[in-house]
Amino acid sequence: MRTQVAVIGAGPAGLMLSHMLHLQGIESVVLETRSRDAIEATIRAGVLEQGTVDLMNEIGVGRRMLREGFPHEGTILRFDGRDRRIDFPELTGGKKVMVYAQHEVIKDLVEARLASGGDIRFEVSGVSLHDIDTASPKVRFRDKDNQAHEIVADFIAGCDGTQGVSRPSIPAGVLKGYERLYPFGWLGILCKAPPSSDELIYALHERGFALVSTRSPDIQRMYLQCDPTDKIENWSDDRIWEEFRARLDTRDGWAPKEGAIFSKVIVGMRSFVTDPMQYGRLFLAGDAAHVVPPTGAKGLNLAVADVRVLSKALVAFYRSGRSDLLDGYSAAALKRIWKAQRFSWWMTSMLHRFPGGDEFQYRIQIAELEYITGSRAGSTALAENYVGLPFDSAAL
Ligand code: FAD
Ligand code: DHB
Repeated sequence: MRTQVAVIGAGPAGLMLSHMLHLQGIESVVLETRSRDAIEATIRAGVLEQGTVDLMNEIGVGRRMLREGFPHEGTILRFDGRDRRIDFPELTGGKKVMVYAQHEVIKDLVEARLASGGDIRFEVSGVSLHDIDTASPKVRFRDKDNQAHEIVADFIAGCDGTQGVSRPSIPAGVLKGYERLYPFGWLGILCKAPPSSDELIYALHERGFALVSTRSPDIQRMYLQCDPTDKIENWSDDRIWEEFRARLDTRDGWAPKEGAIFSKVIVGMRSFVTDPMQYGRLFLAGDAAHVVPPTGAKGLNLAVADVRVLSKALVAFYRSGRSDLLDGYSAAALKRIWKAQRFSWWMTSMLHRFPGGDEFQYRIQIAELEYITGSRAGSTALAENYVGLPFDSAAL
């Protein structure tokens, strides 16, 4: 089988890339190890930057998001028992974010790809990459009936997340990895309750971080800082609500809305960047190349930003034989990635209690939150990163 671009992974990066290439007349095949049902049901991120929202609308997959998503014009930082609001449009020249779950984005992209005759192979196994440093890279895999196949492509896009095969297919010594592990994780829950607040609440308390988000008029998404090695069995519903009440500090009379918890998960946290994000005809995008801690909701948005740069470079190659944008992909994408890494690291550091952290550190964190929420310069620094920094027009 032959195609122009073999895309490994049907996450936001792979599906978005395949759709954007299709709109420019470039053919691709997407390979995904999981089933369609599984990728459409995995609960992950929830906040879309203004640029991600605009892109989804531009490429014709934004209709349901506009109908069902929640536009948010600000966010709340809650500490010392009080709310402080950051107003996005006022501080960023009119930008805002959209709360719309990642698996809904996935559903919209899969539907759009299949409706336009796109080729997505679900439930494949044994994916391996070959000849990636030649002009005819190949991908071998088995389909869901265990039949072996080979795709010969012009390019391979490695969009297969942190556990994929693409990054490990690059010979040792080519990539440099930069990593930071955090000594905490997040316990995430979904519960049957209406939104506790019109906007997301990021809270710092002596007992740790808490986040109140939403998914729909009757489902709330909430997170608590926890030990990354902790077990879900240690967190009864009663203990979870007690911890939310304590950390969200209900002294001012506000309290989170509580309801039946129907999903609990613990995720670890790390920062990771691969440099470069290319080897031969293999280009990495999204979590395959970098990971951010979730505070600030950058993971999905960065994956989308990568494929925006990559699709422009591929279109330039097919339209006019130019390879300079492909050669510059890694450097262009990494500029934005490091800025998002910095923001995610900063939000994480400002809003979590570090094990062994003393009263001095906590007072400094509170002072930083006072400064960020009390100064227009401080609030603007948070707002412009949260809604998404502008794109470098040269890369686009
Ligand atoms: P993924 O979404 O990981 O997609 C990769 C796809 O490749 C997957 O569908 C996978 O099944 C497939 N795949 C893997 N190996 C192979 C293979 N060998 N062959 C073919 N296909 C393969 N970000 C936030 O901003 N906020 C959050 O709250 C948040 N929560 C998260 C919770 C969890 C549990 C995880 C894992 C991530 C979370 N993230 C969050 C990060 C965000 O979801 C990711 O940044 C985003 O999914 C990246 O998209 P992607 O397309 O690069 O990778
Ligand atoms: C959500 C996740 C985040 O990482 C974040 O910073 C805000 C909201 C969410 O899942 O809704």
